[in-house]
Amino acid sequence: MASPRSLLLGLNIDHAATLRQARYRRAPATCGGIVEPDPVALAQLAERAGADGITAHLREDRRHMQPRDLYRLRECIATRLNLEMACTPAMVRFALELKPDAVCIVPENREEITTEGGLDVLGMKRRLARAINRLADAGIVVSLFIDPDPAHIDAAAELGAPFIELHTGAYANGWHDFAVRAREFKRLYDGAERAHELGLMVNAGHGINYVNIGEVRTLPHLHELNIGHAILSRALFSGIEEAVREMKARMNGA
Ligand code: PXP
Repeated sequence: MASPRSLLLGLNIDHAATLRQARYRRAPATCGGIVEPDPVALAQLAERAGADGITAHLREDRRHMQPRDLYRLRECIATRLNLEMACTPAMVRFALELKPDAVCIVPENREEITTEGGLDVLGMKRRLARAINRLADAGIVVSLFIDPDPAHIDAAAELGAPFIELHTGAYANGWHDFAVRAREFKRLYDGAERAHELGLMVNAGHGINYVNIGEVRTLPHLHELNIGHAILSRALFSGIEEAVREMKARMNGA
């Protein structure tokens, strides 16, 4: 089992942009300082508090992050930029221009509030292969966001993606039902083992919070956790730096 001490934190900052857009959706980009909260300023503070990377999802409907946010992040952050995106030609072109350190390919459905399920790797193998090759040729590390399903894990390995991100949503949503939680934890555990055996690096994300992190961190072979909602919610009370420090401490078993 990987040492929990080596677990990295990717802070997902989409919800900061959600809050900004709730008030300033129509404000011109030049409005500068009055438009808040600024996800980029938040990312910089989070990095100083120990975030190992910044994750942002540019959705087709642009409901939270805007292309300009991504370019500003690319320029201003000191750690790694992980772009979450749908597998479309337009997003691949955007990523090749932006040049993030990593791309996590996620499914996208206009109706969902946040990413709800993993990628259908089997059903979109050809499209994914093309995208993975183009991104990898540009030196971008690609990850596929998938449910802990053996068929999708095997397909991800066949495609040659170096990373998967295991979708922890079903586990997190089942937290209060012991049977569901135990079943979903086992799926994640077995999925992480299987992916590792196939040579995949394993990240995880979605619905991880200050409580379930105590169990999530015991999953084997974890490299990085992508966490957004819990940390940004906690930051409303404690500030982003304290919220990041506390999550990192819990990730490391404090
Ligand atoms: N990882 C992926 C691929 C996601 O789509 C999300 C949600 O935007 C997260 C991690 C973070 O989820 P949460 O905000 O629930 O921590």
